[in-house]
Amino acid sequence: MADEQELAEIQRRHWQDTYTAHPGMYGEQPSAPAVHAAGAFRAAGARDVLELGAGHGRDALYFAREGFTVRATDFSPNGLEQLRDSARAQGVQERLATTVHDVRDPLPLPDASVDAVFAHMLLCMALSTKEIHAAVGEIRRVLRPGGILLYTVRHTGDAHHGAGTAHGDGIWEHGGFAVHFFDRALVDALADGWTLNEVHAFEEGGLPRRLWRVTQTLPR
Ligand SMILES: C[S@@+](CC[C@H](N)C(=O)[O-])C[C@H]1O[C@@H](n2cnc3c(N)ncnc32)[C@H](O)[C@@H]1O
Repeated sequence: MADEQELAEIQRRHWQDTYTAHPGMYGEQPSAPAVHAAGAFRAAGARDVLELGAGHGRDALYFAREGFTVRATDFSPNGLEQLRDSARAQGVQERLATTVHDVRDPLPLPDASVDAVFAHMLLCMALSTKEIHAAVGEIRRVLRPGGILLYTVRHTGDAHHGAGTAHGDGIWEHGGFAVHFFDRALVDALADGWTLNEVHAFEEGGLPRRLWRVTQTLPR
């Protein structure tokens, strides 16, 4: 079994190879959580959005088309290159910046500098519980007072939970992709000191992946 550091490097290479082999693999349409998020962000008065784990950008491009200023991050330069090509083709490059960033590292942004953070299927990647808490701590640091975090994660009711190779700490690897399946206690712990607005169960894709969409806001 790979240790934490090895697993992270193997996963980064796996995502790089996957985006090279399957450009635009998630399609051009925004995900359902992104469509929901755009409404929630607008209702909260948000203008700029930080997206973590943006991949090739189906959702970041949608937020930009919807008029938000977007910073999209991912640890795969290949995914972000595809995102930038699409941004130019769609004429939204002025509102969309990309940064190669591993979510296990501190965010390269000042304190209280963004209105909203979106992360679809990022916090449930090959991250330890400690790394997930640290990432949410960083999100909290860069959000302005009253800021909103909307994330989605695969949970313990997903068909792949408990299948494949066990890496410990809730992480299971199946088909080369390692996933940290969330339980409800982890969702609640990550909302400590925030207002937990919603935990919404939904499904995506053919498997289907079973996910929670979590919305939490910071006090003003
Ligand atoms: C399941 S995909 C979702 C992509 C995108 N959010 C979407 O829904 O189209 C997970 C993404 O997280 C990225 N990722 C995985 N681990 C990461 C990490 N430690 N730091 C930054 N990005 C990571 C992968 O490269 C991939 O683009």
